[in-house]
Amino acid sequence: MRRRTFLDGSIAAVALGGAGLLVGSLTATFVRRKPAPVAAPTTPQPGAGAGTASAAGGGAKVSVAVADVPVGGSATVKDPASGDAIYILQPKAGQYCALSSVCTHAGCTVDPPRGGALSCPCHGSRFDAATGAVLTGPAVKPLPRYAVTKDGDRLDLGPQTS
Ligand code: FES
Repeated sequence: MRRRTFLDGSIAAVALGGAGLLVGSLTATFVRRKPAPVAAPTTPQPGAGAGTASAAGGGAKVSVAVADVPVGGSATVKDPASGDAIYILQPKAGQYCALSSVCTHAGCTVDPPRGGALSCPCHGSRFDAATGAVLTGPAVKPLPRYAVTKDGDRLDLGPQTS
């Protein structure tokens, strides 16, 4: 009788452990990995405030120092509405633009510009750093663009334009 009780308890313990492993496995399978937003410029500039964005006017105006956006590089700010990272870029000297960092394929965060393109680490899509156009799929839609206005030594982020 005591042996029977012990065996019943062991079987129940094994069954519970298996159920726990199954739940853990399913949870790991269905939890989506969300990449952390980038918070630093692609090329740090000595003494230039490390590319941090500043919000003026009670947080409504988002801007960066021109010096924080090197030619071929970018500075990162946050979309005030969504909180997603936006790259303010200078693809050519004196030419500024802003692109969403959210890949249009499945929502991963694209890497900062390098060699004139932004690459997505998830499935390999590449986007033109001057226009946001798709250079390589699987993405088919361009990165959303934002207006950028140069105001003295600051670059102000404007509304989304595409
Ligand atoms: Fe960017 Fe798939 S999420 S290529």
